[in-house]
Amino acid sequence: MTGPTDQADLSQQTIDAHVAAATAAFAAAQTTAELKQARLAHAGDRSALALAYRAIGGLAPEARKEVGQLLGKARAAVADALAAREAEVGEAELAARLVAERIDVTLPVELAPVGAAHPITALIELMSDVFTSMGWEVAEGPEAEGEWLNFDALNIGPDHPARGTSDTLFVEPIADHIVLRTHTSPVQARTMLDRELPIYIVCPGKVYRADEFDATHVPVFHQIEGLCIDKGISLANLKGTLDHLATSMFGEGVETRMRPHYFPFTEPSAEVDLKCFVCHGASVGNPDAPCRTCKSQGWIEWGGCGVVNPRVLIACGIDADVYSGFAFGMGIERTLMFRNNAADMRDMVEGDVRFSRSLKGMAR
Ligand code: PHE
Repeated sequence: MTGPTDQADLSQQTIDAHVAAATAAFAAAQTTAELKQARLAHAGDRSALALAYRAIGGLAPEARKEVGQLLGKARAAVADALAAREAEVGEAELAARLVAERIDVTLPVELAPVGAAHPITALIELMSDVFTSMGWEVAEGPEAEGEWLNFDALNIGPDHPARGTSDTLFVEPIADHIVLRTHTSPVQARTMLDRELPIYIVCPGKVYRADEFDATHVPVFHQIEGLCIDKGISLANLKGTLDHLATSMFGEGVETRMRPHYFPFTEPSAEVDLKCFVCHGASVGNPDAPCRTCKSQGWIEWGGCGVVNPRVLIACGIDADVYSGFAFGMGIERTLMFRNNAADMRDMVEGDVRFSRSLKGMAR
């Protein structure tokens, strides 16, 4: 390389050759890094042109102007070539990056498993929907309930066997008279005490009984309670409502029947049965073809119901001469067993996701 103190060659051909070499080196550079090298070599402080520029001072004064102009043009040409190539290389690199980093949004992704509502929850929603779509409201009440609301307000007297410790779970201290509600019926009393008439509510929720844990009993289960209080309500309205619920749950053609029963808070009272959907009654009196589902009875018990006892209306401050109503309550677990062939109630509480998955989408 020619040093500043050497006699520099400042001829036009040499200068043109420097420019040509610089332009060729820029054109050959394919990347920003290569172009940087080319820039240092051909346009940097130690490039041939820079050294030539510094050599001007050693020229005879009359030669300086011409050579200065020549070198000035040459350096400008090199700078232009560099800038143009920088732009090209920059664009090419950007384009290459855009290609390399492109994300194909249509590629299938690995989906994380999405949770689903538990079948009990799904069924509660489905049953509630049957009523809300008729304009009924969903009401709620506490699971730790006052003994008076769970029993007395519902005409279940102090000596009623259901109050005993064998069935009812009391919350300590006993003197506080709090029980884990044994049915959803205390919500009837709460609603009548709180709401304006007429009343059309359903109350789904957990209930507690000191029961064994086996295929058909769990100590914590779910009921849905219905209550209607209005003028001129009769047993016929109850029957129609239950039939509508049964059809919504089990499909067209399901048969229900009311079998006389006793509940202290309804009068008359009945249990509502469903025609056995396995044997359709064929097992009755037919020992050759017994039915496990209905135990050859032809019917299976679904829930309790009745016309609200006027004593309950009075206890809740409602004029029993003007208003009447009906109530019903049934087990959600039982409904799930019948509706979805879930034979063992323990599956509903053990939390094995395969059970939930087997009933996935059952609610829609
Ligand atoms: N509460 C009753 C039970 O748990 C069911 C029922 C509700 C009966 C409403 C009549 C009216 O067995």
